[in-house]
Amino acid sequence: MDAIHIHGGNALFGETKIQGSKNAALPVMAAALLIKDVCTIENCPHISDVLHMQQLLQQLGCTVSHEENTLVIDARNLSMDTMSGENVTGMRSSITLLGAVLGRCREVTMAYPGGCVIGQRPIDIHLSALRKMGVAIYEKEGCFTARVKSLEGAVINLPISSVGATENVILAAVMARGVTVLQNAAKEPEIATLCEFLREAGAVIEGIGGSVLIIQGGHELHGVSFRVPADRIVAGTYLMSVIGAGGNVFLEDAPASQMRGMLKIADEIGAQIHISREGLHVIADEHKRALPYVKTEIYPGFPTDMQSPLMAALTTAQGISVIEETIFEDRFRVAAQLRKMGAGIELSGKRQAVIIGVDSLLGCEVTAEELRGGAALVIAGCMALGETIVKNRHFIERGYEDICRDYRNLGVDIRIG
Ligand code: EPU
Repeated sequence: MDAIHIHGGNALFGETKIQGSKNAALPVMAAALLIKDVCTIENCPHISDVLHMQQLLQQLGCTVSHEENTLVIDARNLSMDTMSGENVTGMRSSITLLGAVLGRCREVTMAYPGGCVIGQRPIDIHLSALRKMGVAIYEKEGCFTARVKSLEGAVINLPISSVGATENVILAAVMARGVTVLQNAAKEPEIATLCEFLREAGAVIEGIGGSVLIIQGGHELHGVSFRVPADRIVAGTYLMSVIGAGGNVFLEDAPASQMRGMLKIADEIGAQIHISREGLHVIADEHKRALPYVKTEIYPGFPTDMQSPLMAALTTAQGISVIEETIFEDRFRVAAQLRKMGAGIELSGKRQAVIIGVDSLLGCEVTAEELRGGAALVIAGCMALGETIVKNRHFIERGYEDICRDYRNLGVDIRIG
């Protein structure tokens, strides 16, 4: 069955290693398509989104092999510039291939991308940025074709610092003629990872890590061997689990420097955190403090991807917490499922959740509707008394390599079934 069974109610103890980052690996895979050579990508997580991206690259003519956590992508010969089917419509990051295929082939036809149901998720900013580089876009029945004679560097100011649009502009700009200045670029660490990958491959990019990126296009790119950094959101998920269920754990490889927004919140709730080069040591306080107000923000603020895991942890905090979601307009779906477990959550519109702390959650059958909400239900399952069955495990597998293995390492009684 497509479910996860958890016998919860116990504190977490032990250590687990944090997998490679999904949102870093996916754009790096797209970038490998730009390179007429062979790239080796290490520490690539075994998750269904990576598998979908791998299949898309293969559809376009790349040879991709996967051994354990190492991907080898040979993009010397591309044979297609059309992308359709479940791999596009079922995964948001298929849109990152727009800039990459355009950069390489000057034309691409693709279906509109899908992804988790957390809001509208339009691609208007991606398209208008690419138009500034000379790209013409024709839309037809759920698909669109983007075509360009010669990609031209441009000054682009993003109206919202969209992660995906920033990635698409970078991918197109390294193949363009002249210089692109990208203002209000997203500063999420996954953008810096993409830039580092391209820089190692021969691209010239300045301003990495900041909100203005200057990209000199047209430099020859060559194959590289690159290691994907650890996943800050997976590390944050386990951090919230320890805060929620109590305990004392070590999260090996957790990228603390990318987790400042989360660590500040963890400190406010009452967890002790020790940072070392090897990872994060988390000791939960027996009494969790509620958070009077926290909002999701672009990096380095508290990430939207951690909002549902935080909500789960706060269900048993002492007092009333308020979470405001500022990035996606429909990211509180998990609240209804947490309520089934006894949580006191009231929604005020689509952007604000009020969480009234209860003494304990009770296990029951709940349904994941998207990736991070699904992870939040597993956290709630670790906290709850009795058995929790989280249905729709496949949503969680989009981003977590083996969530049961990781929680078993932390002493949780958890299995798929
Ligand atoms: N937006 C537009 N128009 C656009 C693009 C974005 O209005 O053309 C809006 C979105 O609707 C949203 C906001 O801008 O309200 C921010 O969206 P952004 O483009 O930054 O998000 P994304 O690129 O679609 C990535 C991650 C998400 C993460 C967000 C924010 C990947 C594959 N996805 O999405 O990760 O939540 O950035 O940090 O990198 C996840 O891993 O669970 C996940 C959803």
